[in-house]
Amino acid sequence: MPINIAIDGTAGSGKGTLAKQLAKKLGFGCLDTGAIYRSVAYYMVENGVDLSKGENIAKAVKKINFKVVFEADENGNKVQKNILDGTDLGEKIRTEEISLASSIVSQVKEVREFATKIQHEIAGSFDVVVEGRDIGTVVLPNANYKFFLTASPEVRARRRLKQLNLPEENYESILEEIVERDRRDMTRALSPLKAAEDAVYIDNSNQLPEETLREMLSYIK
Ligand code: DC
Repeated sequence: MPINIAIDGTAGSGKGTLAKQLAKKLGFGCLDTGAIYRSVAYYMVENGVDLSKGENIAKAVKKINFKVVFEADENGNKVQKNILDGTDLGEKIRTEEISLASSIVSQVKEVREFATKIQHEIAGSFDVVVEGRDIGTVVLPNANYKFFLTASPEVRARRRLKQLNLPEENYESILEEIVERDRRDMTRALSPLKAAEDAVYIDNSNQLPEETLREMLSYIK
């Protein structure tokens, strides 16, 4: 049986970066599940699907020709590619428009079923770190290891400000956005963001990324 490591957490908790670092350290693949929701959103936006109605989204996801593949890079690390109609979507799924659309489509049951099936196939095929919002709770409840990462909203707002290279005057609005996104992620009806009961809960407000990585590694035998 392949080894599965689930990492869930809040926006700005550093889970994406830490999932990649952990996977690299262990020689595992790393699955970014948000990229699947983003790819579905990209397809819907490109095809002019009206996202204001869940039934349109549910119907459109049945027609999508999408797969996730892993290709080895020059160092032998498995790198995720999100393939729509035979073409790698690359960075096209990282725009603000797609971020917003992905948060809408990810609320639809049929989309979650579509994404979960892909995640199960990958997790059953090779050792992988799977990063998302509902991995330890819904997608892989029997994962070998589970982590839940977060930090205070203030710390996450500071990180984002720095990452986007924005001036201090943007701090309050970024903080508000983070609080609002937490609220939306944690209160949605389907698969809300929450720590699995058996997850290692790490608040990394006062940690450097390498300290969080070390803490995570200390749990893995
Ligand atoms: O992690 P991200 O920002 O790339 O995720 C994009 C969207 O997908 C986000 O709005 C929440 C959703 N998502 C989800 O519902 N479940 C997951 N396992 C991963 C992401």
